[in-house]
Amino acid sequence: PVQGAIFDLDGVLTDTSELHYRAWKRLADEAGIPFTRADNEFLRGIPRRESLLRILKGRKVSEEKLQEMMERKNQYYVESISLLTKRDLLPGARSLLDSLKTAGIKIGLGSASRNALLVVEKLGIASLFDAIADGASVVHQKPAPDLFLHVAGLLGVSAEYCAVFEDAAAGIEAARAGGMWAIGIGPHERLKNAHWVYPGLNEISVTDLLDRLSGMKK
Ligand code: BG6
Ligand code: MG
Repeated sequence: PVQGAIFDLDGVLTDTSELHYRAWKRLADEAGIPFTRADNEFLRGIPRRESLLRILKGRKVSEEKLQEMMERKNQYYVESISLLTKRDLLPGARSLLDSLKTAGIKIGLGSASRNALLVVEKLGIASLFDAIADGASVVHQKPAPDLFLHVAGLLGVSAEYCAVFEDAAAGIEAARAGGMWAIGIGPHERLKNAHWVYPGLNEISVTDLLDRLSGMKK
């Protein structure tokens, strides 16, 4: 039985992937580096430093310059999230969180973003989580299972009874590596390794999902 639901944030509960894209795009333009929306698809769930390294594609940059670029991107990103409100929750997010709560399932947030707390506060959902962990909570980021295992620990639910909701391939891998159910949110092509995929949170019925998982093997 599922006793804990762990949510990724960016691209699952809200479309901040687009805001990450615009912040990286501004930085890349300033540096004269080509960067497209299609390139950004490969950065879903990828931590800040690793994202920058991928954008730089082998261009040599000093550690000091790397730090400066990461800070500048973050400044652009933080500016853009200051405008978020509860209207920026993706369709179905609020009602899914409410239904899980009603079903007695513990709810956690497991986001690689160091801005996660700020974002859930802006979205007006911070108080719905029984546990929140972000990019600063563990050393090894997704696809390592560490962040989700940490959240499961905070929820007091054993990993095998947790279901993770993720839009990124790295996150699906992390959930599987932790022995959890991996529920993909988004296109099948990106989420091939998920136990089950929904195009969006608004397609999920908690009862159907729980029934489905209870009849499945990991
Ligand atoms: C993930 C996003 O949630 O967090 C990535 O999908 C982002 O795009 C990563 O790079 C780190 O976020 P931040 O806010 O700490 O730079
Ligand atoms: Mg994500």
